[in-house]
Amino acid sequence: MARIRVAVLGATGVAGQQFLASLPQHPWFEVVRLGASERSAGKKYGDAIRDASGKVSWFASAPLDPAFAAMPVEDAAEMSVDGLDLVFTAVESDAAKVLEPRFAEKVPVVSTASAFRYEPDVPVFLPAVNLDHAELIEVQRKRRGWKGFVTPGPNCTTTGLAITLKPLDLAFGVERVVMTSMQSVSGAGRSPGVLALDIIDNVVPYIAKEEEKVEKETKKILGTISGETIADAKMAVSCTCTRVNVLDGHTESVFVGLRKKASVDEVKAAMREFGADFVALGLPSTPAHIITVSDDPYRPQPRLDRDNESGMTTTVGRVRDEPVLGGIKYMLVSHNTRMGAAKGAMLIAEYLVHTGHIARR
Ligand SMILES: NC(=O)c1ccc[n+]([C@@H]2O[C@H](COP(=O)([O-])OP(=O)(O)OC[C@H]3O[C@@H](n4cnc5c(N)ncnc54)[C@H](OP(=O)(O)O)[C@@H]3O)[C@@H](O)[C@H]2O)c1
Repeated sequence: MARIRVAVLGATGVAGQQFLASLPQHPWFEVVRLGASERSAGKKYGDAIRDASGKVSWFASAPLDPAFAAMPVEDAAEMSVDGLDLVFTAVESDAAKVLEPRFAEKVPVVSTASAFRYEPDVPVFLPAVNLDHAELIEVQRKRRGWKGFVTPGPNCTTTGLAITLKPLDLAFGVERVVMTSMQSVSGAGRSPGVLALDIIDNVVPYIAKEEEKVEKETKKILGTISGETIADAKMAVSCTCTRVNVLDGHTESVFVGLRKKASVDEVKAAMREFGADFVALGLPSTPAHIITVSDDPYRPQPRLDRDNESGMTTTVGRVRDEPVLGGIKYMLVSHNTRMGAAKGAMLIAEYLVHTGHIARR
């Protein structure tokens, strides 16, 4: 089977490293180029993540593949698109705004950044949830005159929320959502990241721009195609996003008002069954379950549940009746750098290979 030649931009960062941790064994994707800022450009990857004291900033639990360590890092702003079939981007939004269109003129770009998420002709794909939004890819190509396209994944906090709301919306109709997140420090990346002095022995009650992103994206992801754009789902979403002293894995407390009455058992069943058709496609990064429901009242916990099914399942627990909004409430844990960033983006790309939107050579 022909390999798909990919570049990873932002390869030295927290999300970029998760791409590299997952890609060496990938059956379809072959990493041929690495990009980052001009600070890292011209160095071998292993040197780019090592500081003057010798400290190597590699954050993934899988070891760095020696072949990647020896690869040169290019300045993403100067990188040529020649010889590439696909680009994964894991850079901050401001850089993505400039870089992503340049590559999308020629090849597909699957992004972890927010730069294009709110554009009317851009889908925010979430595997198993809104694959019909792929229709917008052709609209985007036509409108922008691009051979490629940009498809961002959601914010890492939106991921678990939208995945768990989708089966509820399908079965019972979601009317109102109130969510409070307890987000890990890796979600803030490493430059500048979260200072130990700020987070140890503490909860930080504000993450800049996060609540607005989650509220907006959730409605877009759960929305429906309407002409050449997406009509937001008709639901009210209100969030409080906090940072907690956890390394990886975002925990969320979710209260949902439902249009149709549902028992706890019906909700658990809807979540457990959700995504079976997508899982059956057998894509390389698919988990066995899109949602894993625990009956243990002390779960989910980020330390125990973030790595379930390689960080690709959303683990839900404490499903109870919700008397104030009239519906259901639960807790969830979702891995922010795996399903919530790099591996989620890889799964999107795999699906778009399956549909033919990303071509093999
Ligand atoms: N961390 C998460 O859990 C998570 C989850 C979902 C989405 N995201 C999104 O993923 C993106 C990266 O986040 P992160 O947490 O991985 O951040 P990070 O650890 O701070 O890494 C940032 C990366 O971007 C590169 N970069 C910075 N400025 C650049 C420029 N002008 N041109 C090219 N590359 C540049 C950096 O390269 P140098 O090393 O050379 O500076 C580094 O590789 C963000 O858009 C973020 O919102 C992150």
